[in-house]
Amino acid sequence: MLRTVILAAARSSRVERLVETFPPSRAVVDRFVAGPVVADAVRVARELVDDGLAVTLDHLGEDDGGADPAASPPSRPGAPATTLAHAEAGRDAYLTLLDALDTGRLTPTAEVSVKLSALGQRVDDQLALEYARSICARAAEVGTTVTLDMENHAGTDATLEVLGRLRADFPTVGVAVQAYLRRSEADCRELAAAGVRVRLCKGAYAEPESVAYPTRLEVDRSYVRCLNLLMAGPGYPMVATHDPRLIAIAENRAKWFGRSPDQFEFQLLYGVRPDEQRRLAREGYTARVYVPYGTQWYAYLMRRLAERPANLAFFLRAVRSRK
Ligand code: FDA
Repeated sequence: MLRTVILAAARSSRVERLVETFPPSRAVVDRFVAGPVVADAVRVARELVDDGLAVTLDHLGEDDGGADPAASPPSRPGAPATTLAHAEAGRDAYLTLLDALDTGRLTPTAEVSVKLSALGQRVDDQLALEYARSICARAAEVGTTVTLDMENHAGTDATLEVLGRLRADFPTVGVAVQAYLRRSEADCRELAAAGVRVRLCKGAYAEPESVAYPTRLEVDRSYVRCLNLLMAGPGYPMVATHDPRLIAIAENRAKWFGRSPDQFEFQLLYGVRPDEQRRLAREGYTARVYVPYGTQWYAYLMRRLAERPANLAFFLRAVRSRK
C-alpha cells in the first residue's frame, strides 16, 4: 500500500517539485546518488574500485513521461522537441562518461547502465536504438560493456527487441529482467544462451496484477525460478538483489551448477548494504555496485524509498532535524 503511494508520487510532477526544492532531500539523495556531475560519478567509481568492487554507472535522465510508452506513437516527426533534445543530451552524457572512465583508466571494471527512455524510446524507438548504438560503440572503443535497464512492463518487448539488435554488433550488451513480471520466466528461458549477460532483479515499478505477481512471496519464488534457469544455462547471470536469502541461494546454485566466481556476478545499489558489497568481494565474487549520478534523481530516489519503509523513516528524520 505504502509502496503503491510512493510509486504514484514518483510520477507526480507536483510532488517532484516539492521534494526537489526541499533542502533536507539532499542528505537522503547523497546516500543513493554519487552527485550531480560526471566528476562525481568518476570519483565514486574510483573509491569503489579501490575497495575491490566493480561498478555500473547510470546517468539519471529517464523519461517517466507519465504515460504508457505503448500509447505513444513511435514517430520522430510528431515527437516534442524537448524530448528529442533530452534524448540527445542523454546520449551525449554517456559518451562523455565513457571518455571520462577511459581517461581515469576505470574500464573495464566500470561499465554503464542505460535506460532507453532516457534516449527517447517513448517517442521514437528507432532514435533510441540509434543513440544506444552510439553508446555501445563508444563503450566497445574504451573496452567496456553496456547493460540495458528495464523500465515498466509496457516497454519490455521494445527493450528486448533493441537488445537483440544491439547484440548483433555488440555481443556483450546485457539486459535487466524483472522477476515480478509473470512473463520473466519465459524470457529467462530465451535469454539463458551463450554469452548473454542477464541482470536478474525483482522489479521496481508499480505494475498491475495482470502482468506482475502481487506478493513478495510470489516475486521471490519467481526470482528463484529465473535464477535456476540462468545459472543452469550457458549465459552470464548478474544477480541483482540485496535480499540475504536470495544471495545465499545464488551462492548455492553457483556451486550446484559448477560455476566459478568469474562465470556470474552479484550486483547491488550504491548506498544499500555496503558491508554486504564488500563481503561478497572479499569472498572472491565480482560484486558490482550500480551508481547513479546526475541532477534528475527524483524518480530514482522515490523507488528506493518505496522499497524499504526504513528509507522513508530516514528521509522523514532528515526533514525533522531541519525544523
Ligand atoms: P527486497 O526489496 O526484498 O530487499 C531485501 C533486503 O535488502 C531488505 O530487507 C533490505 O535489508 C535490503 N534493501 C533492499 N532495498 C533497499 C533499499 N532501497 N534501501 C536499503 N535497504 C534495502 N529494477 C528494475 O525494475 N529495473 C532495473 O533495471 C533494475 N536494475 C537494478 C540494478 C541493480 C544492480 C539492483 C541491485 C537493483 C535493480 N533494480 C532494478 C531494483 C530492483 O528491482 C529492486 O527494486 C531492488 O533491488 C530491491 O529489491 P531486493 O532484491 O533488494 O529485495
